[in-house]
Amino acid sequence: MTKYKIALMPGDGIGNDVMDAAKIVLEKIALDAEYVHADIGWEFWRQEGEPLPQRTLDLLETCDCGLFAAITSKPKEEAEAELIPELQGKGLVYRSPIVRLRQRFDLYTNLRPCRAFKGNPLNFRDDIDLVVFRENTQGLYAGVEFHPLPEDLRAKLEELSPRMAAFAGVPSEDIALSTRIFTREGCRRIVRAAFEYAKTFGYPTVTIVEKPNVIRETSGLMVREARKIAAEYPGIALWETNVDAMAMWLVKNPQTYGVLVASNMFGDIISDLAAQLVGGLGFAASGNIGDDFAVFEPTHGSAPKYAGQYKVNPMAMLLATKLMLDWLGETEKGATLQDAIAAVIEEGQARTYDLGGHASTLDVARAVVEKLSPETPGL
Ligand code: NAI
Ligand code: MG
Repeated sequence: MTKYKIALMPGDGIGNDVMDAAKIVLEKIALDAEYVHADIGWEFWRQEGEPLPQRTLDLLETCDCGLFAAITSKPKEEAEAELIPELQGKGLVYRSPIVRLRQRFDLYTNLRPCRAFKGNPLNFRDDIDLVVFRENTQGLYAGVEFHPLPEDLRAKLEELSPRMAAFAGVPSEDIALSTRIFTREGCRRIVRAAFEYAKTFGYPTVTIVEKPNVIRETSGLMVREARKIAAEYPGIALWETNVDAMAMWLVKNPQTYGVLVASNMFGDIISDLAAQLVGGLGFAASGNIGDDFAVFEPTHGSAPKYAGQYKVNPMAMLLATKLMLDWLGETEKGATLQDAIAAVIEEGQARTYDLGGHASTLDVARAVVEKLSPETPGL
């Protein structure tokens, strides 16, 4: 019986390439773990009409956490068209399996550290150390959406909100509605996670990134709850910034900021911006973290044009592996892996195409393994 059981979900496209890189590194790290493969992604949608099969959910129930690489997602009509003929016309609707995993296991924290590693030629500046906390289960991603707008819902909205007058005369079939639902507890727990992280790792500020002057109810609730929670952390300042201004400030003065916290959609956008400041998708890792389960992943997608070429940068995947080690409590191994990654980046020998190099995905993993010598602390 091993100490941990970890599900590996390579998914689609370059997900397989970068997962192979992670396996090389995990083998060297020699965690006391059993690794099990779990099916997820586009092929299972096409063949079974289910990109996140029940057998995968059942397997994940038996695991401590999951390491996920990337999947392909497509809009509704395109997804339906790619189903095998037997499954077409059955009303199957594609929904992103990673979004569903977050909701199914209540992985409410999306943690996205964006650190400028020394010597990374893609750094926007060398002094950036941002950590984005994105709410991961609610808001615009809750999936409560309508098109056309149902008549009874429309009548109720018209009764309750004078603002609906702006849409008078537009046929309901020409109206699409996506809801942005926040709960008080949903706001509180993500803000608390951000403050706890700031406290543990010594960040002096937490910036809440919303838009309460316009989106009064949802952003308003989040900012009001953030102020209450901030009062419990006297050493840490709460900064409040509107999401549009934040996009500008992150380009102008990214080094000024530390921990950022935002709702699902805004957090998604600013974390991609933050990622690009430190080298782009090839370096951006994230954790989807709940109270007792977590899934770690690079934030990039399946990049179909590079699939199977072992060309893409595995650093995001390896940094996701590092976040997983930390979450399991294997912080010494986590720090050791990060040091090895940092050393490879600084040396600049093993570089993939995005860094102007010719190394393969697996060459980079092997270079990291070389830095993890048997004498390395934690191994
Ligand atoms: P993408 O992240 O797959 O790729 C965009 C571009 O970023 C690539 O063409 C490549 O130039 C670069 N890139 C991505 N990962 C890289 C890496 N590791 N190293 C170097 N360069 C890298 O996003 P795209 O093209 O918008 O989406 C492709 C598919 O992935 C779609 O089906 C999309 O729905 C899905 N997707 C899945 C995600 C997930 O699994 N969490 C996240 C984002 C997109
Ligand atoms: Mg994204």
